[in-house]
Amino acid sequence: MTGKIVILTGAGLSAESGLGTFRDKDGIWTQHSLEDVATPEGFARDPALVHGFYNARRVQAAKASPNAAHHALARLQQEWKAPVVIVTQNVDGLHEAAGAEVVHMHGRLAGALCHRCAHRWDAPPEMSPDDPCPACRQPATRPDVVWFGEVPYHMEAIVAHLSDSDLFVAIGTSGQVYPAAGFVAEAAQAGAETLEINLERTDISGAFEAHRLGPASEVVPAWVESLLPRDG
Ligand code: OAD
Repeated sequence: MTGKIVILTGAGLSAESGLGTFRDKDGIWTQHSLEDVATPEGFARDPALVHGFYNARRVQAAKASPNAAHHALARLQQEWKAPVVIVTQNVDGLHEAAGAEVVHMHGRLAGALCHRCAHRWDAPPEMSPDDPCPACRQPATRPDVVWFGEVPYHMEAIVAHLSDSDLFVAIGTSGQVYPAAGFVAEAAQAGAETLEINLERTDISGAFEAHRLGPASEVVPAWVESLLPRDG
């Protein structure tokens, strides 16, 4: 395989950096109600609660460091002779901290968005419902993350990448949230090989041709090593 690689990453990639996943035992959705903190309706009901949830995650993400899996993917992107497109559902900045360029389909904790005028700016560590938008001055600021019921970002570009990929790899994602969970089928339809890297099998494992099971910090560097020529 020497062609274009599209990689989808999820919370399992950052688990060994100390950031919680969503659906594992003790995952974020076992401690918080998804409807309250990750929907536009929840934000309309109680913006302070939602800001508090993302403020805590922003502080935690800012303290975290990329692990060996993030570094290996950045190296693959730099050294592979064909394009390596990394699409992440993660809102942390750990891919960038490792030196990779990524498409943030679920937005970023580091971003703020005005829901009145759509202006975007860098989020301060703590956001609150009273913060005015720097452009329109309305107290209408929200984290620049995609909530349930909203359309993920960059979908047109992602679909185009899937349609001419030669290999599609999903890493550390449970395959329970669409449209990301449908990417493997789109890539396979376009003729790509498919590989799932995860701690355990997922509900959509059957859609992949190949699997590598284990912790991302071990399995991802080993997979990248198997693709890249040895140094020297
Ligand atoms: P999940 O929490 O649903 O799934 C994480 C996956 O990573 C599970 O399949 C775990 O088995 C696996 N995993 C855990 N630790 C791992 C490790 N060290 N190495 C490899 N794999 C590991 O997280 P996502 O699939 O990313 O969306 O969740 C998708 C979306 O649902 C998120 O972006 C978020 C969430 O609700 C929104 O908030 C809109």
